[in-house]
Amino acid sequence: MHRRRDLGGIVFIDLRDRAGIVQVAVGPTAPEEARRVAGGLTSESVVEVDGQVAARPANMKNPDLATGEVEVQATKLAVVAPAATPAIPVARGKGEELPAEELRLKHRHLDLRRPEMQSNFILRHRLLQRARRTLSELEFLEIETPVLTKPTPEGARDYLVPSRVHPGEFYALPQSPQIYKQLLMVAGFDRYFQLARCFRDEDLRNDRQPEFTQIDLEASFVGQEDVLGYVEAVLVSLWDEAGHKIARPFPRITWRDAMERYGTDKPDLRFGFPIADWTAQVKPLAVPFFQSALKDGARVRGLAVKGGGVLSRKDVDQLAEAAKQLGGAGLAWVKRQGEQIAGSVGKHFTAEALGALGVGDGDAALMTVGPDRVTSPVLDRVRQEVIRRLGASPTAAHAFCWVVDFPLFEPDPETGKPVFAHHPFTSPHPDDIARLDTDPFSCRALHYDAVYNGNELGSGSIRITDAAIQRRVFGHLGMSPEDAETRFGFLLSGLQAGAPPHGGFAIGFDRVTMLLAGAGSLRDVIAFPKTTTARALFEGAPAPASPADLAALHIEVKR
Ligand code: AMO
Repeated sequence: MHRRRDLGGIVFIDLRDRAGIVQVAVGPTAPEEARRVAGGLTSESVVEVDGQVAARPANMKNPDLATGEVEVQATKLAVVAPAATPAIPVARGKGEELPAEELRLKHRHLDLRRPEMQSNFILRHRLLQRARRTLSELEFLEIETPVLTKPTPEGARDYLVPSRVHPGEFYALPQSPQIYKQLLMVAGFDRYFQLARCFRDEDLRNDRQPEFTQIDLEASFVGQEDVLGYVEAVLVSLWDEAGHKIARPFPRITWRDAMERYGTDKPDLRFGFPIADWTAQVKPLAVPFFQSALKDGARVRGLAVKGGGVLSRKDVDQLAEAAKQLGGAGLAWVKRQGEQIAGSVGKHFTAEALGALGVGDGDAALMTVGPDRVTSPVLDRVRQEVIRRLGASPTAAHAFCWVVDFPLFEPDPETGKPVFAHHPFTSPHPDDIARLDTDPFSCRALHYDAVYNGNELGSGSIRITDAAIQRRVFGHLGMSPEDAETRFGFLLSGLQAGAPPHGGFAIGFDRVTMLLAGAGSLRDVIAFPKTTTARALFEGAPAPASPADLAALHIEVKR
């Protein structure tokens, strides 16, 4: 019972199931017992109704409701299971705010009854079935891999599970099925997929959960082109399932270009405002703000903001503040209105100098200086904020792209030593492999990401299938040969057993569902999610274990 309106002589009940709502009318001609039950019915109770479907009187039709032309005139009404007063309301009036999320997560069984949540999970189901069907039609085999395993490095911490029968030893929950799917290729299955549950102990955000689902795939005797084709087929079918026609192939951008033009490896291509290198134009102007950094070989990069003249002083100050928080030098700005040039570095610019940057009448220039690793995230953030504040209209509703040619290694922020940009099983680019030992940072990887409207949907790569190269890569990551053998011996022996060339991909399924459902958080498309502090509020996990359980697991807890 979703909602009830008692008009004295007649009671209207909104009856809800997962398909929607239908109105039940218990009027003066209904049996006495039905009218008595209707009078005392509480929200969210489970009821049984017998009656006749009839057209509603013309003035009672509700065009907002799929069943708004009809109602059920009850001849019998019984309570199957009465509901206690719900801790959070399920039915909401127009414009009525949702209860706080913590409360919703605590009473998840009620929160999930909301029609919006029901439709998210119906969509999730359909997307899951469609992914299965698409991949099955492409002759991928669905094979399950274990959840109690050895650590699979994907850049997060592992969840560990103590072994009772082997004191002091632990299973790890998989961060992904990466090594197993490669071994399935070695085992000759050619094409594998799995709706794989992955576990990562990392800092959580709205688009990250400790436990999430990937559409994971791998194929043998393929190159990058083949894998991109398979993944496009899956993504296009998922968007189709949600009612959107998407054109293939997706445009491609190299990692280097993405960082140069958008400051990020997940550019939102629905909008313009690319980042430009203005070092050559700005250097001769001797702007004090830039001078010292320029001496150190840094670059001045910025955005020419068409129509940016409307950005207020407050807007620009807030952008500058955001830039500072990201560790940048801050933001310099210039605005041009007719002959007037204003801004923090305005006095150094002429209309002609601005014209050379593509900044015309009514436009603004926002710029910063420093090493790329600092200016890129700053300008990415500034670009996103500018788009938001100007209310810029997108050139397309759905902007997919492939980001390709990622670097193989990146410098560890603390030590500067090479760490793997993704996982250590990614093949170096064949043109760069000769520099693996001499100049590792210049080596590209056969790694690719699928990006949609500024969101990373998934990533994948062509794998190393030569055990000797795999050992060299482990060596670069500071692993001794013995260490590599202990941790990854099962993969290395697989690679020595005649490993077909292979590559694959993993799509973040929860993210895809969130985007297609128009939800703001993964928590709205995962039935029983964790909070940002990795707690399950509904079931109350994690929880202390009993001393007896701990003893059986050979564990002592230090507080
Ligand atoms: P990667 O680590 O990039 O690749 O993961 C693939 C995709 O999974 C999603 N994802 C997450 N979704 C929700 N919560 C999280 N904590 C989370 N972490 C990742 C993202 C991401 O793009 N084994 C490789 C794939 C491969 O090389 O084939 C892998 O796991 O959408």
